[in-house]
Amino acid sequence: TVSRVYVTRQIPPEGLEILRKSGQVQFELWNSDDPVPREELLKKVKGVDGLLCVLTEKIDAELLDAAGPNLKVLSTMSVGFDHLSQPELKKRGIRVGYTPEVLTDAVAELTVALLLTTSRRLIEATHEAKTGGWGTWRTLWLCGYELANSTVGILGLGRIGIAIAERLKPFKVKKFIYTDVAPRPELAEIIQAEYVSMDELAKQSDFLAVCCALTPETQGICNHNLFSKMKNTAIFINTSRGGVVNQEDLYEALSTGQIAGAGLDVTTPEPLPTNHPLFTLKNCVILPHIASASYTTRNAMSALAANNLLAGLRGEPMPKELKL
Ligand code: GLV
Ligand code: GLV
Repeated sequence: TVSRVYVTRQIPPEGLEILRKSGQVQFELWNSDDPVPREELLKKVKGVDGLLCVLTEKIDAELLDAAGPNLKVLSTMSVGFDHLSQPELKKRGIRVGYTPEVLTDAVAELTVALLLTTSRRLIEATHEAKTGGWGTWRTLWLCGYELANSTVGILGLGRIGIAIAERLKPFKVKKFIYTDVAPRPELAEIIQAEYVSMDELAKQSDFLAVCCALTPETQGICNHNLFSKMKNTAIFINTSRGGVVNQEDLYEALSTGQIAGAGLDVTTPEPLPTNHPLFTLKNCVILPHIASASYTTRNAMSALAANNLLAGLRGEPMPKELKL
């Protein structure tokens, strides 16, 4: 039997090809690069068996009620799942697919790029070069902080945190430390990372990379309490979710010199309004949520999202299923 599916975005071609060739689904697509308006989405999901979404769609009780009882499978083209109401999905017996692992390399690579951009002040530097600030060579002008002999802290050690550490190691990092809800010795061993408390993570890190999922437990955990314990030479990097950070506290930490700099690929909200105070700070580098944005990875994510959806609709285990 052919299942009815709604796809909330123009996803990369590999995923669409898989859906088309399967002969298993009849799908309708929001054929745009921009999000489907909520009202439209609520209409379109009515009666579908499966839904393929991206991280801009809030999947909550209202939406699931609008879809109705046919909906059995939700597939999100993202590793993050904070846009999904897990209790509501679970209550309705809806299975959920997501896209971990295929994006680990791309996210780790971008995180390293963002870290170096922030610590070596590359955005400021190109701006100075272009706009006449480059008067002469100066001894301490545009100096930043180096990775060699540094301590790198990872907040939330998972695949992505490991992949970041593996890439940073050749820069002669002295020590990796991490914190998480509990030690993860089998992962930590890969990079010889030491488990420390949140306090110690803040105190010891020269570079602190946030790599945890956004959950009720991690909401706002990067706040004044954390920043005030950090070194004022420390660089803070977030490529997970904006909600993990208290942005007012981060602004304070950056503008008062409590910490040296921050590189953010994620913010609250997204997009961050162009008049947001964080944009006024030279020591804050903000990217528009592009960590997984390589052609290879975005295609792999779309393919995995399609395969998760199809397997779920067949009642089979999904290649990557989220345990609710
Ligand atoms: C991107 O942020 C993702 O969750 O895949
Ligand atoms: C995400 O895929 C993680 O495990 O860090």
